[in-house]
Amino acid sequence: MNSQGDGQFEWKVLGESMPGEREPGRNLRLAVLISGSGTNLQAIIDAIEDGKLPNTEIALVISNNAAAYGIQRALQHKVPVIYLPWRKFPAGAFMHEMTPNEARIAGLLQFFRVDLVVLAGWMRIFSPPFLDQFARRVINIHPGLLPPEGTGETYRLSNGKTIPVLRGLNAVKKALEAGLNVTGSSVHYVTAEVDAGPVICQQEVPIKPDDTEESLHERLKEVEHGLIVEAIRSFYQILP
Ligand code: GRF
Repeated sequence: MNSQGDGQFEWKVLGESMPGEREPGRNLRLAVLISGSGTNLQAIIDAIEDGKLPNTEIALVISNNAAAYGIQRALQHKVPVIYLPWRKFPAGAFMHEMTPNEARIAGLLQFFRVDLVVLAGWMRIFSPPFLDQFARRVINIHPGLLPPEGTGETYRLSNGKTIPVLRGLNAVKKALEAGLNVTGSSVHYVTAEVDAGPVICQQEVPIKPDDTEESLHERLKEVEHGLIVEAIRSFYQILP
């Protein structure tokens, strides 16, 4: 048995099983991590309720932001939701082990027997020790076009033109500032390098001449709501 924690919040791993070792025939259990409005969370909830994501359930929602509207969405649909304040630690204090924040999340993922972690507007970065534990079990939605393997600085559009890859915060604003005609959204595996993991699915979205950051982000989110469901559906088949 493994026991970890920061003294205030001890957790124990009971047994050997890791998230992802799904018994054949049982539901794919998701954890959806949010920080804000939660429209992508809503898309997942709706797809499950409408039967578009069969054999899938949201085991829990975690928010690092007590004011996130996504919390209300989860509560309205009777999905367990946990507010988990993200404590600050000195830079470099946790180079080779999970931070206490991450240890809490890891404990919750074990406890709720989560198979797949969906970052849906989650605004915190995970460390390599955390991601190593959940390799290929954490996916993210990014409002930008990432190359198929995730790495590289350019993206080839379907029309053959090449555009710069926009990672990190404010990718929608950056697309407008760069004067692009086309951007898009990608669902990708999360790796230690931010927004640089292999892509699961993605879609291009044209930028209109009169687009504002808000109008463009709104259209990107409409696309994301389909992409995230498509990405999750593909997991039910590939997990053991
Ligand atoms: C989405 O645009 C997603 O691409 C980005 O954060 C936004 C979350 O929106 N990572 P919401 O909270 O799901 O409405």
